[in-house]
Amino acid sequence: MLKGKKILLGISGSIAAYKSVFILRQLIKAGAEVKVVMTPSAKQFVTPLTLSTLSKNEVISELSENDSWSNHVMLGRWADMMIVAPLSCNTLSKMASGLCDNLLMAVYLSATCPVVVAPAMDEDMWNHFTTKENIKKIKANGNLVLPVGEGELASGLTGAGRMAEPEFIIEWVESYFSKAKSFTGKNVLVTAGPTQEAIDPVRYISNHSSGKMGIAIAEEFYRRGANVILVCGPTNESLPSQIQIIKVTSALQMYDACIKEFGESDIAVMCAAVSDYTVTNISDKKIKKENESIFLELEKTKDILFALGSTKKKHQFLVGFALETNDEKQNAIKKLHGKNADIIVLNSLNDAGAGFGHSTNKVTIFDKKGGEHFFEIKSKSSVASDILNVIHDLYNV
Ligand code: CTP
Repeated sequence: MLKGKKILLGISGSIAAYKSVFILRQLIKAGAEVKVVMTPSAKQFVTPLTLSTLSKNEVISELSENDSWSNHVMLGRWADMMIVAPLSCNTLSKMASGLCDNLLMAVYLSATCPVVVAPAMDEDMWNHFTTKENIKKIKANGNLVLPVGEGELASGLTGAGRMAEPEFIIEWVESYFSKAKSFTGKNVLVTAGPTQEAIDPVRYISNHSSGKMGIAIAEEFYRRGANVILVCGPTNESLPSQIQIIKVTSALQMYDACIKEFGESDIAVMCAAVSDYTVTNISDKKIKKENESIFLELEKTKDILFALGSTKKKHQFLVGFALETNDEKQNAIKKLHGKNADIIVLNSLNDAGAGFGHSTNKVTIFDKKGGEHFFEIKSKSSVASDILNVIHDLYNV
């Protein structure tokens, strides 16, 4: 329920704007007070009259109307949340660069509340590298980006870029408010990404981890009020600017950073795909291809999760990950007990859309009391939310 919540609904010019009417109705039904701000071009897709009738508030779209100035600063401060749905490619680009040429942008730039956006565009536009860059930028600035759906698009083509469905958006907003600040005051350590083990000055051994899952977990903890430290291996993902980040390259650097920070942590989530082996003798010069074959001696890295599990205090909650290709459940449970974790999150490489590189994941969580928690395939940010819910229930924060 959203009783008493003040929501600013921003609508930009996209065919999906017709769905904003459903979003508005559902927000009102759930008890929220809603004010609507439109871009001038959004009026071509949905009328202010419909929106003002449903919201019982005047709909505004111009910086000044009838010789009076619209107070965008006060609107931005009034809201508990601003939702921009649909977010068109044009408005996305303005958000990424801070361009203030209409009231919606002025309100966005003045907003002191969380801003969540639901992009909507055609697949080719969605996949364009400038769109990807703009999404990265607005995420890095702290905006919350809902996943786009796949299906029939306004162009008649089928693919990714559909705005998230109104039901999904409402559920997301309700769950955001119901869980907001549930980890307030907790110190949380999260690892993400791969590690790189140098062979010589130009080569290394690594794996396909993108870091997306660990970053999504760190962001979700931050959203719920925790003090988060993210120890992150090399990644191309944008890193959230509000979170303290310790960038590392090798497994040893990640180990050192985690050992240093764990003492002060209440919760630690070891999501990184740490190299199991590192090169024994790193060559200080580039290895030349003089021989038909070469021998690389590798030695085991220190197991970070195991080390934290061995020193874990009663008040600390430890989360491990397991990526398995066979005997998934047995292997995951073996890791749970062998490394003294409280829960282990299993993602199987056998599930389509799960694991490295994808923006979706499918996990099963095993807890040390024998509980099993199954989840459907979903976006990594929704998986992060599921994982935090399990931690919350078991840790009793
Ligand atoms: N892990 C770790 N330090 C390592 C290796 C792994 O902290 N040197 C952690 C991972 O972050 C993850 C968990 O251990 O939380 C399981 O990692 P995984 O690679 O699935 O298992 P391993 O223990 O490495 O075992 P194996 O490779 O034999 O499956």
